[in-house]
Amino acid sequence: MTELTGKAVMITGASRGIGAAAARAFAEAGAQVALLARSGPEIADLAGEIGQSAIAVPCNVARFTDVEAAVRACLQAFGRLDVLVNNAGVIEPIAGMAEADPDAWATAIDVNLKGVFHGMRAVMPVMAERGGGTILTVSSGAAHHPLEGWSAYCASKAGAAMLTRSCDLEGRAQGIRAIGLSPGTVATDMQREIKASGVNPVSQLDWSDHIPPEAPAKALVWMCGPEAEDWLGQEISLREPQIRQKVGL
Ligand SMILES: NC(=O)c1ccc[n+]([C@@H]2O[C@H](COP(=O)([O-])OP(=O)(O)OC[C@H]3O[C@@H](n4cnc5c(N)ncnc54)[C@H](OP(=O)(O)O)[C@@H]3O)[C@@H](O)[C@H]2O)c1
Repeated sequence: MTELTGKAVMITGASRGIGAAAARAFAEAGAQVALLARSGPEIADLAGEIGQSAIAVPCNVARFTDVEAAVRACLQAFGRLDVLVNNAGVIEPIAGMAEADPDAWATAIDVNLKGVFHGMRAVMPVMAERGGGTILTVSSGAAHHPLEGWSAYCASKAGAAMLTRSCDLEGRAQGIRAIGLSPGTVATDMQREIKASGVNPVSQLDWSDHIPPEAPAKALVWMCGPEAEDWLGQEISLREPQIRQKVGL
């Protein structure tokens, strides 16, 4: 397992699902973790469960000032920031392009695309000043393939994948390692929303088709180690058997 003792990790969307599993996995690897989400009580409970090496920072990633304040809170608590996990995301609105509510559509872009930019924008100067860091962004197959009813999700994830490439291009010389993770389908609340919508082939999958959130969490920890160096500026897909083997899944 990748050893992260003494490192500080900031995880967005840590109140449930992949983000909560990642918080536990990073803490188990020895890292100090800053848990970000809008649901204050949930992240406070998780921080309490993890113990002294965790802080809970209520944050809406759609607001840059929230993300900036969270970075300051992390630096104040831990004196450093080594890893950002851009995980927060929403699937709604699930609607055809001819019917989707424009305001709801824009909100998905605010969270899934601008939220990722806000994270990168807030940590890149801090990491550059300190000699580098790792910025991991949870991507999706939807970044590369359109799915019915998911135009906001697909467009935002495609944009976020480009942000990983841009971040690598601009940050690699300063020691910033930017990598995306495409997890496949994962058994979380997001898949419950997808199932309930009945829209597109993903909603037809059986619950047993999904992997547990602990799998992408383990991959995110692994991505902080030297073995992931070959994927800088790219996406790692957990659907690939070679990657699953390397991660130990
Ligand atoms: N599940 C899958 O099959 C799957 C597949 C591919 C990619 N992904 C990606 O994996 C990531 C995590 O998804 P999940 O499946 O774990 O979903 P989830 O269980 O619905 O969790 C989503 C997380 O994002 C947070 N979040 C949503 N909007 C936010 C905002 N404006 N500011 C801060 N946090 C916000 C939520 O916290 P609050 O509501 O408390 O703010 C929650 O912690 C997402 O980026 C998703 O697109 C998931």
